[in-house]
Amino acid sequence: MIKEEVPRSAARVARRRFLTLTGAATAVAFATNLPGGSTANAGTGSLPDDPFTLGVASGDPLPEAVVIWTRLAPRPYEPLGGMPYHAVSVQWQVATDERFRRIVRSGTASAKPEYSYSVHVDVRGLEPGRHYWYRFKVGRYLSPVGRTRTAPAPWQRVDQLSFAVASCQSWPDGYYTAHRHIAAEDVDAVLFLGDYLYEYGISTAGGLRYVTEPVPSQFRTEADTLDRYRLQYALYKSDPDLQAAHQNAPWISTWDDHEVQDNYANLTSRTNAPVEDFLVRRASAYRAYWEHMPLRTPAPRGPNYMLYRRLRFGRLAEVSVLDTRQYRSDQADGDGWKVDSAVRRDPARVLAGAQQRQWLLDGVRGSHATWNLLANQVIMSRMDLDPTAGNLYNMDAWDGYGAEQQQVLDGLAALRGRNPVVLTGDVHAAYALDMKRDFADPASQTFGVELVATSISSGGNGQEVSANGQKFLDGNPHLKLVNERRGYIVVRLRQHELRADYRVVPYIDRIGAPISTVKSFVVEAGNPGLNPV
Ligand SMILES: [Fe+2]
Repeated sequence: MIKEEVPRSAARVARRRFLTLTGAATAVAFATNLPGGSTANAGTGSLPDDPFTLGVASGDPLPEAVVIWTRLAPRPYEPLGGMPYHAVSVQWQVATDERFRRIVRSGTASAKPEYSYSVHVDVRGLEPGRHYWYRFKVGRYLSPVGRTRTAPAPWQRVDQLSFAVASCQSWPDGYYTAHRHIAAEDVDAVLFLGDYLYEYGISTAGGLRYVTEPVPSQFRTEADTLDRYRLQYALYKSDPDLQAAHQNAPWISTWDDHEVQDNYANLTSRTNAPVEDFLVRRASAYRAYWEHMPLRTPAPRGPNYMLYRRLRFGRLAEVSVLDTRQYRSDQADGDGWKVDSAVRRDPARVLAGAQQRQWLLDGVRGSHATWNLLANQVIMSRMDLDPTAGNLYNMDAWDGYGAEQQQVLDGLAALRGRNPVVLTGDVHAAYALDMKRDFADPASQTFGVELVATSISSGGNGQEVSANGQKFLDGNPHLKLVNERRGYIVVRLRQHELRADYRVVPYIDRIGAPISTVKSFVVEAGNPGLNPV
């Protein structure tokens, strides 16, 4: 049983290899630079094994700060992750070189049982626009080394920025080969747009990966308690490719539905559970999400968490990170794909909510950045599955909230020179869309673009273009690309243009797939619209 409960051997081999390469040097540096030297383990007691099984991460870069993260879990599938039931001191270091010869910040954090021994350090006093390396230490155990990067200073002229855009990583559906490739991309940050995990129980019926990597019986049930969500994160985060993607760059993350439950809407669960019960579940899910992500804001207060936020990258880009789950009205007409209706267009129904909507439009209006990126979850542009017969819309997307969708689109269209770029996940397909003043009129003004990233793994191997994908292409002239393989987008920003490379892998049912660019677009600053390369 215990053998079954350790993360899969690949992760352990990868970590061992990493420590062989850098471990000796890092151990010396820690002994030299930290009080107590290599035996410092005040408050650690003795751990049964290496506690750094879930890797390290960093996120939400500011010009002078970045959050670094880890979680101690020597036996991640056991209660408490195999940790003793008391707080444990974790030392951390940040250096300007990967061998930690020049350590610029260091300290001690406390990993507490009530937060499943996660550590979030908001490292301050850093220099803007540069790489740093970070690591943690508990007793004699050193974590892997992560690389991160601060945002440029507000006044800084930045020649180029690049982001990997990704979403949807159902573990049972296949290997995270796309993450292995993200780990090799030279990007300033990874924008992760939701479905970091799926709440479903995992069994032989639930996907190909279970067959090669069986997981113990506690994974059979759906995640709906704090412990069960934590267990699901432990599984997902034990993946070596996901760990590598975190180690390569800071992440800017938001959630979608599956971090809690498929297609939930604010207080309404998919199964219409009593609100008081669903609030308990939502609180557990939000807390587990916070525990496992490199987020700056303190832990959620009960069932609420302020996730929407804005990050600035000099005068080149601002990223408005949205949360379209926590405040939304219930899906119209019973959810799913439905013909147009009065309920769909009811102005009382919201997706972002009045407060967030105002914050978004005010922020873009006041922005001094050339490019204004929206880290969005569900598709914002119109996507009509059946334009010939009364229209067919996805009630879970912005289309399902027609009044607020129009308010946001009109608000963005009214702003001149802001170059809005909506980045979206959710649909397990890569799309590229021109955002139109009037989607029904292909000749109307294009005011921005929406770049939809396919999934990392959800949906399995996928295909080039499905029958529905072809329907979308035929019925939506503003849609310029459909590709249903797995992968991500690399968005490169310069002062005069944006370039989006749609990166895909041909399969994920076995490891080692190569990456290739299936399509690229360029957008000129001040001249909105997709130009195929
Ligand atoms: Fe998804």
